[in-house]
Order: sequence, then C-alpha cells, then structure tokens
Amino acid sequence: MTPLLLWPLFQFLAALNQSPNPQCSLKGNFRPGFLANGDFIIGGLFPLHYNMEMPDLNCTYKPGPVRCNGFDPRAFRWALTLRLAVDQINQREDLLPNHTLGYKIFDSCAYPLTGQRAALAVLNGPAEVNSPMCSGSSPLLAIVGESGSAQSIVVSRILRPFRIPMISYFSSCSCLSNRREFPTFFRVIPSDDYQVKAIAQLLLRLNWTWVGVVRGDHEYGRFALQGLLRELEGTGICVAYQEMIPLLYNRQKALEIIHVMNSSSARVVVVFSAEGELTPFLRDYMEQNVTGIQWIASEAWVTASVFTGSEYYPFLGGTIGFGIRQGQIPGLRDYLMTVNPVTYPSNPLVKKLWETLYDCSPSSSSSRNSILPPCTGQETLNKQHSAYINTSSPRISYNVYKGVYAIAHSLHNLISCRPGRGPFSNFSCADVRNIYPWQLQHYLQEVSFTISGEMMEFDMNGDSIPSYDLINWQRGSAGNVEFVNVGLFDGAQDPGKELVIQEKGIVWAGHQGEVLVSVCSESCVPGFRRAVRRGQPLCCFDCVPCDSGKISNRTDSVDCMPCPEDYWSNAAGTRCIPKAVDFLTHDAMGIALTVIAVVGACLTVAVLVVFLYHRNTPVVRINNSELSFFILFALALCFLCALVFIGEPTSWSCMLRHTAFSITFSLCISCILGKTLVVLAAFTATQPGNNVMKWLGPKQQRVIIFSCTMVQVMICAAWLITSPPFPSRNTQYQRSKIILECTVGSDVAFWCVLGYIGLLAGVCFILAFQARNLPGNFNEAKYITFSMLIFCAVWLAFVPAYVSSPGKFTTAVEIFAILASSFGLLLCLFAPKCYIILLKPEKNTRQHLMGKEK
Ligand code: TRP
Repeated sequence: MTPLLLWPLFQFLAALNQSPNPQCSLKGNFRPGFLANGDFIIGGLFPLHYNMEMPDLNCTYKPGPVRCNGFDPRAFRWALTLRLAVDQINQREDLLPNHTLGYKIFDSCAYPLTGQRAALAVLNGPAEVNSPMCSGSSPLLAIVGESGSAQSIVVSRILRPFRIPMISYFSSCSCLSNRREFPTFFRVIPSDDYQVKAIAQLLLRLNWTWVGVVRGDHEYGRFALQGLLRELEGTGICVAYQEMIPLLYNRQKALEIIHVMNSSSARVVVVFSAEGELTPFLRDYMEQNVTGIQWIASEAWVTASVFTGSEYYPFLGGTIGFGIRQGQIPGLRDYLMTVNPVTYPSNPLVKKLWETLYDCSPSSSSSRNSILPPCTGQETLNKQHSAYINTSSPRISYNVYKGVYAIAHSLHNLISCRPGRGPFSNFSCADVRNIYPWQLQHYLQEVSFTISGEMMEFDMNGDSIPSYDLINWQRGSAGNVEFVNVGLFDGAQDPGKELVIQEKGIVWAGHQGEVLVSVCSESCVPGFRRAVRRGQPLCCFDCVPCDSGKISNRTDSVDCMPCPEDYWSNAAGTRCIPKAVDFLTHDAMGIALTVIAVVGACLTVAVLVVFLYHRNTPVVRINNSELSFFILFALALCFLCALVFIGEPTSWSCMLRHTAFSITFSLCISCILGKTLVVLAAFTATQPGNNVMKWLGPKQQRVIIFSCTMVQVMICAAWLITSPPFPSRNTQYQRSKIILECTVGSDVAFWCVLGYIGLLAGVCFILAFQARNLPGNFNEAKYITFSMLIFCAVWLAFVPAYVSSPGKFTTAVEIFAILASSFGLLLCLFAPKCYIILLKPEKNTRQHLMGKEK
C-alpha cells in the first residue's frame, strides 16, 4: 500500500529534478477550501471533516478519491481564524507594510492518509500552469497545520526535503519535539510531556491511585500513554487497564472496552483520544447505560463542542481535564457572522456548514443530489451553533491565530533585515523577492512577540511555553454540558506549584458532593503494612499486621519498622513502648516461694526447739547431737538463702545468691557427712581391734566439717575474685520483655560449686549406703541414705530444668531446687526423730533405739 500512497510524492520529486524544462502534470485534482493570493503564501491544513471513507485499494486499477465525511464546524472556524488573522495582518501598517499575505487552505480530513494528500496539494498549485514549484521558487513559505499529531508527522516528513517550516496548532505529541526527526516543525501548543505531568499531579492530588487508560490508535495516544506511565512510575498510582480504540471504529472491540471499564474497580478513566473516534465510542458507551465513571479528558476532547449536547451530560457530567489556554481574538465573532452562503455562493465548505448547522441545503443548484430541504435564507447563527460560533473562549482558534502571527512577525523580521547585518553567510540577508523557506525557519526560531498580552516564542524544539486550564464539565441551564474553568497548570512555575485547583468549584461525576474514590485496595491503617498481591500491580495489596516488635505509625506504610532496643511494639503495633522489665519478684510465684522458704525455715527452727527441749533424750543424743544442731542450723540458712534469689537482682544480691547458697549447702552436707562417718564409725568400732572412734572424736568431726566447707568457701572466693556473678538484662529470650537476671559470670565456677556439693552428697550417699543395714531399731544411716537420695534426685533434676528454663524461671527453678532439697533433708533426717520424740515418747529409750528391746 505504501508505494501507492507515496506515488504522488515520487511524481512530484521527479518533476523537481527535471528543472531545465519543467513538465509538471498534476496527477489529481484537489481543490483548496479557501485561497487568497498575496506576496507571501502560507498554507493551512485543517480537519474540516472528521471522518473519511477509504477507497477500494486493490491495486488493479487507479483508486478513486478518498471521500471525506462529517463536516466539522469547529475546524471550519479554525480555518476562518487563519483567514481573519491574514486579513488583519494585511490591514496593519506596522506589520509587513507594503506586503500582503496570501493563503491556501486545504482539508486534511483528520486522517494521516488524507493529511498527506492535503500536504501535497498545498505544495502544488491548483492547476499545472500556475504551479510555482515547477518554476523553482518556493510555492509557499510556511504551513499552519496540522491538527492531529499523526497527520502532522506525515506532513512534516513531506515538507522536510523542502525545508518548509510548519506550525501546528493542535499536535501535542511529545514525539514531535524531536528536532532531528522533525527539523522544520514548530507548534503553538505545549508538548504532551507537560499534559501527562499535569494529569499525574491531578490524580495524585485527588488520591486516585487506580485508574484505567483508554486511547486512540495513533501517535498521540501512544506517546501520551507512554508518558503517563512514565510519570506515574513511583507515585503509587497504578494503571488498572490500558485499552485502545481501533483506528477504524469497530463496535465489537468498543463493547469489549466498555465491558472492561465497567467491570474494573478503577472508576477513573483517562482518555487520550479525539472526537473522531470518541463520538461512536461514547454513543456505544451510553447505549450500554454504564455510569459512575469519572472521565479524565485529554486536551484533544476536553473542550470538544460535539459533546456539549444534553444527552451526554448524565454520562459525561463531571468530566475533568486539561485544556489549552484560551486567548483573545479581536473581531472573530463578527468575522464568523459574515460567512454565509450569500457572501460565498460558490464555496462548497460554506454550503456544508449551512447543511450541518441548519439541516438545509442552501443552493438550489445542488438540491438535486441533496435530500435536505432548501434553506430559507433567513437562518441566523445562535447559541445552538456553539460548535461554530462559540468564540467566548477560543483555544485552538487562538493557537491558529498565534501561529499566523508568528509567521507574520518572522517575515517582518526577515524583511527588516539590514544588508550586511543579516544572519546568513557573509552577514547577508534573505532576498525579499525570492525567500527560501529555510530562511523563514531561521527567523521563526528566533521570533518573539506579544499577542493579546501574552509573550510568544519557540524553544529549541519548536515548542511553546506550557500552560493549561483545568476544565470541568458542568451542567448548563439547558441540561447541556458547559466547560467551566476550575484551575490551571502552569509549567513555568517551580515543581510542585504548577497545579492550582479550585476544588470547591468542581462538579464530580455522578453529581456527588465529594471526590469519588478509585483505589484498588483500601489503605492500611497504622499498625498494618501493605503486602503486595502476587502478580498484581503495586496498588493492589492486603494489609497485614506488623510482627510484634515492629510498628507502622503511618497509614499505608510499606514496611514495619523495628522498635529500638529496650522498646517493644504496643498491642496495636502503632507505637514503640519501653519493654516491660521482668524478674522474680513478689508476684504470685515469688510470694509462694517466699512463704515456702519461710515455712521451711520456721519448721527447721521448730525442730531445733524441739531438739533443744529434748536434748537429753536418747533419740537426740544418739550419734552426736551437736551435729544435729549444726545440720538444723545449716538447713535454716539453706531455707533463708532462697530468699536472696527473690527480688530485683543487684550486684550484691547476685554475688550473694550463689555463694550463700553453696556455702550453706556445703555446710549442711558436710555435717551430714560428718554424721554418716560417726554412724559408720560407731558400728565398725564395735568390731574388735578397731579404734576408728578414736580418730573421729568431736574435734575431728568439726575439723572435717570445717575443712569440707572451707573448700567451697575457697571456690566461691576464687569465683568472686575472678569473675563474680553480675546482674544483666536478658532481651533475647522473650523479646517483648527485659528479663533482669544474674549472669553467673563464670560458668566453670558455677558448675564447680554445684559439682562440689554434688560430690559431698555423693560421698555421703555412698557411705550412708554402706551403713544402711547396720543393726538397731533406729538406724540413722538409712535415713541419711534416703535424704541423700532425695537430695541427689532433686539436684540431678535441677540441671536440665535449669539449663532449659527461661528468664525468671531459671531463678524459680533454682529456688525450687533449694527448697525441695532442704525439705527433703529436713523431713528425711528429722521427721522420724520428731515422730518418736513427740508422738512415741515411750520408744525414746536407749534400749529401743539399740534394737535390744523387741
Ligand atoms: N493533541 C491531539 C494530537 O496531537 C489533538 C488531536 C487533533 C487529535 N486531532 C486529532 C488526536 C485526531 C487524535 C486524533 O493529536
């Protein structure tokens, strides 16, 4: 298809090459919409129809002409604005004096293909004879056009070889800012780079984080979508869907898109498209009766008068978007009023305008192929025809106006060039009678002027200063749509200050009082964090509570922050609070243990009292009563030293704990050991020739007890000197609490101390075991064996319990072991004796005890 489309261009270039004897022949006839002669001709390309019908392109015969359908009064107004501007300039004394501007206006039909045809037509003359291209000089100096970016791209590529500058009034595609690709392209509309920035800021400002995008199938839509996605990166706004309205409208596809829009949870839709494809799309949309969608219109349709009808309001009311800034065009309204079939009897465009505006056919000659009734001639333009006559806020018309003035001012500057001071080689100026378009391009690039109080110039890429009006579709008096200005975006401002919204003045979609919510997931309250759903955009997430020890104090936090040391999260996970300090204190467990210890100590004292009271009875006196008193004393201490373990650990209490406990226990076991030895000795002594008893008099016993205890004292002293136990904060075990405990300082010492007690107990047990079967009714060795058995069992059980029990329970276990073993000793050693003393005094005789009395 492409070679066929480019055929006219080849012809045209071929014609250029045959310069000595030009033989130009036009391959088709394409009449301009308007034509005026002048010293300098500018071209104008306008989409006077918004639709076209493709001819049959089967390449077997010459295709018929492309037919344009749907006359667009709005574009017609743009074209008339060009004429008005040229007329005004021609009348001015100060701008281009003694020269006149002319124009050639062609219909581009709003499609690239037809745009290309129009571009070629504007370069050619209307007939072969006056085709100036053939004679070498340039047919025109500049072109005002085109409307859509896709068309502008095509036109710009055609103009490029001739270096004819073009000024577009509506092509905003950011792709056109590329000077390498489009060296002769200028525009009086901001690049979409700014528009997408503005839309992104608008979405952010209104908290719409979940939006859909619909676009047309053209460069404008493609680049705008790309730009928007780029702008939305990292802002937390996600695009729920991207849909494309096909270039050749297709109802099936449109219904699919509408279904996607309706079923998505994104209620906000950004649409980069123009009336051409949007009109049928919206018709289908309204047919489906979909509501509740907030439209964000791109500049291409946000002020499109096609959609001002009252039938659109229920569906499109509340639409918001950025529109091109408006300006003042003096005399435009009056000028438009002068256009009617009487003043332009032969102009087909004026005829079409009348047909479109009044649904009547103005000239009788053409009535044979028209089905419309003839016009009365009394038709007057009124408000209904706002698409054509609404000049209160010209936006695109104003762009056209600016474009023409930019060319005029550049030409003026070119003409005012002083010889010898020109910008071209050797400081030459352009030859006014034979201006080359590239010379005008130079002046266009430099031009700077004020128009309607606004400064106008082009930057290096041919772009102009970006600024937009924020436009909201509100209900007019007749139920129609009215475009109300509710803010602006000024790209010249500092970042962050560009967008100004008067939110109070905005009517939202569905006529709600407040901004509609369009989010994929509700935001997460403090104490929760976002967890992105797999395979879904970032905006769709679940809220999961922070782990304990971590908090989030903002809504929508992505992460939970860990609390600093010594702090822990509160139950809600919103704040860090100081960790609870925990140690074995006078809580339930502490009190219970204290009571048990005190009871134990009291019991011991009671036994002591009983023994003292009955100190002269045989049961007490048997086997050295002094040792019994020692044992009871040591036991009392054992009970009491359990108390040191309760309460907040301090460096003193930590040092005291283990030493006191180990020494009292050593003392106790030593005494028992002493007693065991006495028992053993007493019975072996009865065997002849054995005088062990001599070696085990009371003095020796004391020495044994003392030295056995001393060993423990030494160990403890060494421990305290080298690495004493100290209080510490355990944050590891229960991370939400600080457990205050005593660190033993040296594990070796700790286990030595325990080991030593174990050793004493072990020896004691073995010896007592030897003596367990000795005769006598009251065999203490049996009880000692028992007691040691219990003692060892308790402490053997203690070891694993101690190692594995956490935090303050370590201490509790230790206390428990102390108390249990103490009770074990107390009961085993003294309960039988007490029983005899208190309840069976008759057995408290020497005979009975020696087993001599049966
Ligand atoms: N700014 C749009 C563009 O650059 C405006 C436009 C005009 C348009 N006519 C169009 C967009 C036709 C799509 C189709 O293209």
